[in-house]
Amino acid sequence: MNQAATAATDYNYTVVRQFTVMTIVWGIVGMAVGVLIAAQLVWPALNFDTPWLTYSRLRPLHTNAVIFAFGTSALMATSLYVVQRTTQARLFGGALASFVFWGWTAIILAAAITLPLGISSSKEYAELEWPIDIAIAVVWVAYGIVFFGTLVKRKVAHIYVANWFFGAFIITVAVLHIVNSGAIPLHAGKSYSIYAGAVDAMVQWWYGHNAVGFLLTAGFLGIMYYFVPKQAGRPVYSYRLSIVHFWALVSIYIWAGPHHLHYTALPDWAQSLGMVMSLILFAPSWGGMINGIMTLSGAWHKLRYDPILRFLIVSLSFYGMSTFEGPMMSIKTVNALSHYTDWTVGHVHSGALGWVAMVSIGAVYHLIPVLFGQGRMYSISLINTHFWLSTIGVVLYIVAMWISGVMQGLMWRAVNEDGTLTYSFVESLVASKPFYIVRLIGGLFFLAGMFVMAYNTYKTIRAEKGSLQAVEQD
Ligand code: HEM
Ligand code: HEM
Repeated sequence: MNQAATAATDYNYTVVRQFTVMTIVWGIVGMAVGVLIAAQLVWPALNFDTPWLTYSRLRPLHTNAVIFAFGTSALMATSLYVVQRTTQARLFGGALASFVFWGWTAIILAAAITLPLGISSSKEYAELEWPIDIAIAVVWVAYGIVFFGTLVKRKVAHIYVANWFFGAFIITVAVLHIVNSGAIPLHAGKSYSIYAGAVDAMVQWWYGHNAVGFLLTAGFLGIMYYFVPKQAGRPVYSYRLSIVHFWALVSIYIWAGPHHLHYTALPDWAQSLGMVMSLILFAPSWGGMINGIMTLSGAWHKLRYDPILRFLIVSLSFYGMSTFEGPMMSIKTVNALSHYTDWTVGHVHSGALGWVAMVSIGAVYHLIPVLFGQGRMYSISLINTHFWLSTIGVVLYIVAMWISGVMQGLMWRAVNEDGTLTYSFVESLVASKPFYIVRLIGGLFFLAGMFVMAYNTYKTIRAEKGSLQAVEQD
């Protein structure tokens, strides 16, 4: 990249700074709610008989907060940063970028109020009611205009691969959201889906699965393709593979949704198609993971002293783990055991905490010093502490859920010689309780790490500009 041109461009970092800081804030809020609901599964009395503190209302608050507040803020911060740096152009649209930040913040606050009040469309990951849905569509389109407008006015001919992933994520989420939110309003707080029965389920999981595929995967792969090479100081291992990775991933993901609806009223051929596409998905997923990890070729030694790089590389390992597990769980006979059990929750969090959260944390640690005029974070050893708290936290969480999930699946299907069930449902709950305690401890570790990050960030921002010098280790 042309250094002189980079220095000359007056980038819009305001919106990037805002989203970056809010990534940490929303991370703490969303994960704190996660810890609370994890505790409620151990001690149900923790809802204090208060309607808005019940598990049923806080669970969607958790998922919305971590996916749309924490995860999406990380995506907006990084995409709006990367698109500027790789095109050497200032963000398009002037004040529109500010509108995206304040609009998205207002939407998050609306979600934080309405979900505990029990106002919900009851569609998973699309619980927000229609007035908020309309606001989401408007802000999202504005985000798309800012992002693609910047690409159009780019000063370099080539569009770097990270932008392809961000672009696919922005377009697909817009389409998914608009189609799945089709509803007939009853009043401001209630609407009914325009789809019925099995079609409703199919549209919902076409949305739900591709929210995973394009928001929780493609967008974060955009992060990976920029921040791993940057932090490692090496070019992407194979640029050609990254292009194959992109086209294979986007063309296959979109078909895999029916694996959420095995053994339901959905036609059997659609279920089988979803299963086959999910199995094929293993190939591009691992191609991408290998491309990311191999970018470290010749720089492996940096893992010894750079905890930011460790966050990024370990996140890729969890990405590999969850994209091996996912195709396996999509096989109908495996799904017959895993579905409805904690195995799914374990899979979700190896992706969500291990991949999504850890890659975001790595990117944010890279960004904070750049955005606030410092050479490095205030304390490298605190980043290291954070790294271990997160890694131990994820491992405790997912191992507990795997054991609990497989145990539940086996207990529910066990039958006596006379055909009656061996275990009652309550017996499986009692058996799960120790694992819920371990999950809670894992969650507390992860959350504690986020507080360490917040403190480190505060000290970095408050330090005198330019006072924290980068440490050269090579
Ligand atoms: C401290 C960290 C976290 C804790 C303690 C935690 C805890 C929980 C708990 C207890 C549930 C409900 C499980 C159930 O109903 O059986 C849940 C669900 C969920 N969480 Fe988290 N979570 C954390 C972080 C995250 C993050 C960072 C993400 C996403 C980026 C995430 C995404 C989800 C999703 C998608 C579900 C729904 C899973 C499903 O329906 O199968 N969580 N979480
Ligand atoms: C090749 C990639 C993947 C495949 C084929 C896949 C497949 C699956 C399957 C079969 C299920 C269980 C469906 C059920 O029984 O209800 C599932 C659930 C889920 N997966 Fe994945 N997965 C993949 C990667 C990921 C990643 C990387 C993430 C997160 C970042 C993720 C997040 C989720 C979530 C949130 C659910 C729970 C949905 C719900 O029931 O609420 N998946 N996935």
